Amino acid sequence: MKLEKTKYEGIYFLQNNRRGLIVTKNLTPGKSFFNEKVIEINNEEYRNLDPTRSKLAAAIVKKISLVPIKQQDKILYLGASHGYTPSFLSDVIGEKGILFCLDFAPRVVRDLLFVCEERKNMIPLLADANKPETYKDRITEVDLIYQDLAQKNQVEILIKNLQFLKKKGYAIIAIKARSIDVTKSPRIIYKETENKLNQYLKIIDKKELDPLQKDHCIFICQKR
Ligand SMILES: C[S@@+](CC[C@H](N)C(=O)[O-])C[C@H]1O[C@@H](n2cnc3c(N)ncnc32)[C@H](O)[C@@H]1O
Repeated sequence: MKLEKTKYEGIYFLQNNRRGLIVTKNLTPGKSFFNEKVIEINNEEYRNLDPTRSKLAAAIVKKISLVPIKQQDKILYLGASHGYTPSFLSDVIGEKGILFCLDFAPRVVRDLLFVCEERKNMIPLLADANKPETYKDRITEVDLIYQDLAQKNQVEILIKNLQFLKKKGYAIIAIKARSIDVTKSPRIIYKETENKLNQYLKIIDKKELDPLQKDHCIFICQKR
């Protein structure tokens, strides 16, 4: 198997006989939490990020122009759920990065806690992303906001949280068209989303994620 660097920091491509895998270097060797494929190369462990489980991985398969995540970054993750995609961001930012993992569902945060216990750069927050005032004293300014919430007011939630993003910092937002309006065509929703985002952020790239993530689109944005 051949490990290749990609243009995205900390994200590699592993070519095996049948297909290519997106992988990151495991920050916690010997420990994985999501039944993901783990591959050992030169005494180091790499974990497979599955594009059918992660919108970020789907965007990479779709050749998004930029994944603005680097070592030592501070990230606010809105909609961390059980921590699947967050754990890969945790690999990329490394021990000196910080990932604030926020979710409002106690059931998933309970699972997230086990991941955060082992991964010291992940900090769990049980809170509603609609109410930044309830967690503003528990986080710092961040380099990136990653949002994957599947809510009707997804864009408004991101805008409320921009107060935590540093100038020229980045925002990655995954939009689930069916959560916004089931009666409208996803393409119309993506266009409306783009228009709204444009008022607050510079849009660097966007990719529709079908068929890997049905009726989803991801936007990479930058604070002006
Ligand atoms: C699609 S899942 C996220 C999956 C995760 N990003 C991943 O790739 O591993 C959406 C999550 O957003 C959370 N969520 C939805 N609305 C929220 C809100 N207003 N505040 C905090 N979490 C929210 C849900 O509880 C759910 O766990």
